[in-house]
Amino acid sequence: MCGIFGYIGKRTDATKMAVDGLKSLEYRGYDSWGVAWKNGDHLDTKKEIGKISGVDGSLLSSNCSLAIGHTRWATHGGVTIANAHPQFNADKTIAVVHNGIFENYQELRDELKAKGHTFVSDTDTEIAPHLIEEYLKQTDDFAHAVRLACQRFTGRYAILAVHATSDTLVAARTGSPLIIGVAKDGYFIASDTPAFMHHTRTVQYLDDGEMVVSNGNSIIFTDIETGEERHKREIEITINLEQADKGNFAHFMMKEIMDQKESVARAVNQSDEEIMTVANAIRDAQGTFLAACGTAGKACMAAEYFFSVVSEKHVNFAPASEFKVYHHFLKKESLLIVVSQSGETADVLEAMQVAKSKGAKVLSIVNVEGSSIDRASDYTLHINAGPERAVASTKALTGQLAVLLLVAYALAGKLQEGKKLLLETASMINDMLNPRYIERLSQLAERINHKEDLYIIGKSWNYPMAMESAIKIQEVSYIHAEGFAGGELKHGPIALIEEGTPCIVLAGNDEVTPDILSNAVQLKARGALVIGVAPENNEIFDEWIKVPDAFAAQALVNIIPIQVLAYELAIQRGKDPDMPRNLAKSVTVK
Ligand code: F6R
Repeated sequence: MCGIFGYIGKRTDATKMAVDGLKSLEYRGYDSWGVAWKNGDHLDTKKEIGKISGVDGSLLSSNCSLAIGHTRWATHGGVTIANAHPQFNADKTIAVVHNGIFENYQELRDELKAKGHTFVSDTDTEIAPHLIEEYLKQTDDFAHAVRLACQRFTGRYAILAVHATSDTLVAARTGSPLIIGVAKDGYFIASDTPAFMHHTRTVQYLDDGEMVVSNGNSIIFTDIETGEERHKREIEITINLEQADKGNFAHFMMKEIMDQKESVARAVNQSDEEIMTVANAIRDAQGTFLAACGTAGKACMAAEYFFSVVSEKHVNFAPASEFKVYHHFLKKESLLIVVSQSGETADVLEAMQVAKSKGAKVLSIVNVEGSSIDRASDYTLHINAGPERAVASTKALTGQLAVLLLVAYALAGKLQEGKKLLLETASMINDMLNPRYIERLSQLAERINHKEDLYIIGKSWNYPMAMESAIKIQEVSYIHAEGFAGGELKHGPIALIEEGTPCIVLAGNDEVTPDILSNAVQLKARGALVIGVAPENNEIFDEWIKVPDAFAAQALVNIIPIQVLAYELAIQRGKDPDMPRNLAKSVTVK
């Protein structure tokens, strides 16, 4: 969460590049934004509440070669100018932008207050410029002072720091992402590559416990603890600029829903050898666990059913934020499978640390190549979805489901059968996403867009998809939505049903279909408006959304109309589906 950006070099449009870079990092948080830049021997700054889109960075300064910027997802302190980053020391000679949390900030703040420092924000970040100022009493070297300050921080963080009279940009990380962009005319440092991809595709990765200092001509990596220099490879990344753009769509969310016409097939396009390596690792493991958050977690829950039905293998899912409680069951022969679109989710990184501390191996299924999770894993499968910019995850989910199902088929010794089923499913999704289908869902949204409560039920792999449906509808339309296992209704939730309450029933054409239809009858008997998402119509349904019959891949096709419905509900209720309130795309705090 929070996006950070820095530039140092020969160009004189650093504030423009900072603002443009922050626009592409806004998916990480959009509560406020701020930029600080070097102007002669002092630092200038601009901070504002709200989104940065529409701001022209060239108006901040037309002659500046060193700037840092931040787009915020508030953790400590409300959404105010005082709490926006950059944060400064008292005489405004040191500016810091920060992503993450300094867990010991109270203690450091008390220590600094005792030394006479006063604080003007509620943020944990503000201790950083003050602490650096303290260390500048021991050393003239700004980078060294930053290093000494970093040695005091606990928690996960990434920072950029600048000083009014030092022509250097200093950055450090432990736990939160920072990537260096190496250009002919300078260096970029940002939370993610889209922030500088228009300027360079050559990157270097900063790892945990490392810092960098650049004067614009060169860059030096060092270990924060020892001060020893580290040598880094330059890596060329491939990013399709078109994929990172909205194109002709009004919102990224709809563009990414439509991308699924191709992205599912890309997810299936895996090397047989790599899939078999992973399948063998699962077969040989003594205990296979799955951990992920939110939508990716729902893909893992669906995978529990994939492994059970397709390969008769018992695997255990826990939300990544709960995973450390399970550490008693882990040993060095265990395998943890983590799933993440961004590859940067803090709770997932923590689950990986827990597994590694027991000597267990980690397989990651990620979208963003080169991300922290990708690089820290023993095995990785990429879902190849391309950049996903809307906060609500759509094409990443279907890519994750496709890869997990493929692995389940490989484990059952039926890899080619799995590929065939998934490629057929990809083609079905391509057919589904036609203008008439979208229009049909838009009409359904019109029928229910004034409702404040909505329930979704499913059974087997459709149960996690019911939960995922609820996430999609909640986060973009702000309608209260909940997903249940159909059989659980009678144990409590059915008390919520009133005349006209919309209830979506996710069904397939399999052995559990009669069960979920009888749950739908129970809803209907209480007056619910029953919306069936199923291959076959049924007299119980007040509305029927047809989906293809995709057997074990039913989860992939059933979620498609729900994604479109969630989008249409958001639009009809006047909400921005790409940037829902209170959320951020990449959740790098616990
Ligand atoms: C919801 C959504 C989130 C993410 C979750 C994990 O639409 O996108 O629930 O799935 O924050 O993020 P990643 O997959 O990046 O680890």
